[in-house]
Amino acid sequence: MLYYGGDYNPEQWPAEVWADDVALMRRAGVTAVTVGVFAWARLEPAEGRYEFGWLDRVLGLLHRAGIRVVLATPTASPPPWFSLAHPDALPVTAEGVRLCHGSRDTYCVSAPAYRAACRRIARALATRYGGHPALELWHVHNEYGTRCHCEHVATAFQRWLEDRYDTLDRLNEAWSAAFWSQWYGDWAQVLPPRATQYLPNPTQLLDFRRFLSDELLAAFTEQRAILREFAPGVPVTTNFALGDWVPVDHARWAREVDIVAIDHYPSAPGRTADEETALAGDLARSWARAAGRPWLLMEQAPGVVYTGRRMVPKAPGQLARHSLAHVARGSRGVMFFQWRAPRGGAERFHAAMVPHAGPESRVYREACELGALLGRLSTVDEPASAGVAILWDAQSWWAGEGPGLPSADPRYFDAVAAAHRVLWRAGFAIDFAGPEEDLSGYRLVVVPSLYLVTDAAADNLRGYVAGGGHLVVSFFSGIADADAQVRLGGYPGAFRELLGIRVEEFHPLAPDEPVALSTGDSGSVWSEYLHLAGAEAVASYAGGPLDGLPAVTRHGYRAGVAWYLSTRLDDTAHGRLLTGAAHAAGAAPVCAGLADGVEAVRPSGDGPLFLLNHTDQPVTVPASGVDLVTGRSVDGAVKLSAGGFAIVQERSPHIDPP
Ligand code: GLA
Repeated sequence: MLYYGGDYNPEQWPAEVWADDVALMRRAGVTAVTVGVFAWARLEPAEGRYEFGWLDRVLGLLHRAGIRVVLATPTASPPPWFSLAHPDALPVTAEGVRLCHGSRDTYCVSAPAYRAACRRIARALATRYGGHPALELWHVHNEYGTRCHCEHVATAFQRWLEDRYDTLDRLNEAWSAAFWSQWYGDWAQVLPPRATQYLPNPTQLLDFRRFLSDELLAAFTEQRAILREFAPGVPVTTNFALGDWVPVDHARWAREVDIVAIDHYPSAPGRTADEETALAGDLARSWARAAGRPWLLMEQAPGVVYTGRRMVPKAPGQLARHSLAHVARGSRGVMFFQWRAPRGGAERFHAAMVPHAGPESRVYREACELGALLGRLSTVDEPASAGVAILWDAQSWWAGEGPGLPSADPRYFDAVAAAHRVLWRAGFAIDFAGPEEDLSGYRLVVVPSLYLVTDAAADNLRGYVAGGGHLVVSFFSGIADADAQVRLGGYPGAFRELLGIRVEEFHPLAPDEPVALSTGDSGSVWSEYLHLAGAEAVASYAGGPLDGLPAVTRHGYRAGVAWYLSTRLDDTAHGRLLTGAAHAAGAAPVCAGLADGVEAVRPSGDGPLFLLNHTDQPVTVPASGVDLVTGRSVDGAVKLSAGGFAIVQERSPHIDPP
């Protein structure tokens, strides 16, 4: 069974609506819903007083309808009684403002009262529902990521730092505390980064994010232990939020959940949404693969794309295409936020499978069509590796966006997204891998702006190329060590020998100041005064202060090849370079010769070939087998309508005739 459904909030509706909900769910082919995410106040209206009657009825209704339940612990939104009784458990901003209840996520994760209340409600739910026949999966909390800078956090941070550094001398060294007289003489002097006079200490900031990731994880595993105790065998997860505000190292957290669950909301409509969907799916499945876990798209918006300022309706068919892009990558299903659009509350205009217009709506009809289609599919294995990987590292992201950098513009996530985008457009299946992971199975490894590199990661990459791997490193990589201290002797300290270059100076570019290259392409964001030290120049700067100096280099290193991009190439040039490097390394796209905007995902097992046409033109794609969407046989070619898709169970799976 594929999971199909979404967040269901019956507590926001009178009981008369529930039967209608369940009937509409059945009509839509819903197989699972997430219940109770924000229901704490209705489950425990006063400390220690529980009201489970309504949830009993809801779970009973769902069970009788054959709908599985993903049961949440509601700890992301403590009720007002809690914060009034425990003001010290309210979060404090970096500026020292203690926030008040009235929204959600208003808690301090390190406050003992909050943690105790979480354990209590988790235990109460686990004892009552741990053996419920509808229970499929525990969904702990919601999108862990809340920050706090209070005294509880200060104490927990100090303990975490003691664990990490053992002695204050080592902390002082790692934090370069001799700078600006920040030398600490007692653990109690070390504080979370709070509002301060000028630039804060970058390693303090980095360690705080590392600490927060671990502290939030401890809150998760504490609940997980309780749920496992009372409901052994029921898997436990929490939904990962993607975004630069999230102080959670998802690759590490993936090892702690039984199924990796992500929420994904593209940031712009059209092709950007398609590209971001592929990126999110590839990240999630890569975190899951490395951790040996399955994965699931836990939330997406049914009808619209949120741009930050306004919501843009998804184009007809985009809902299904995006959902299939995830399923094709091994997602165990397709879940939405949310089932029914509420009448009130902060998210009253958020998209829903049953919108305000009710079931007589395009969105609900599309949801029904998708449910019917998913009902005919089963879980697919994750895509076959094309031998191409992009390195991903949350800690490097955090360190590379701290204060006092040469430029604020080389945004890590943008660099990762750009590398993924151009390879995706060229039709490659793309894995993400950690910098210390075994890379020997990959033909090409791309390293976008990996600012912080541990010694182990530097050795790993050197060994990978020495063993015959092909590597493409882009600017602002290998600059700092694990303490976020600069590696000396010329940039990029971690990779100079491997890349056969030495960078003497950074020349960051203004946003409206592209730089011309000898190839006729252009660079942006960044440029460098670079010396060759074994590498050859593939492109040089043309004009400006760096005129004639190398911009893109290639270095044969032992059995492999290491490329270096000292500027951000435009997408066309970047795509040409990465595609050329991939082909030279022996990697090939999933299907040869696909039109621009047509995506092919081929699972590693004997699952079907997913073909998604993201363009507004019909296209024809070579394939043979049976289209599971239409049930028709496909002989040599399948026609995809504009925005359409096919799922072809191939007859002679991807074996070229001799
Ligand atoms: C997140 C949350 C949901 C909801 C959506 C809105 O994913 O988990 O509760 O707020 O965002 O897009």
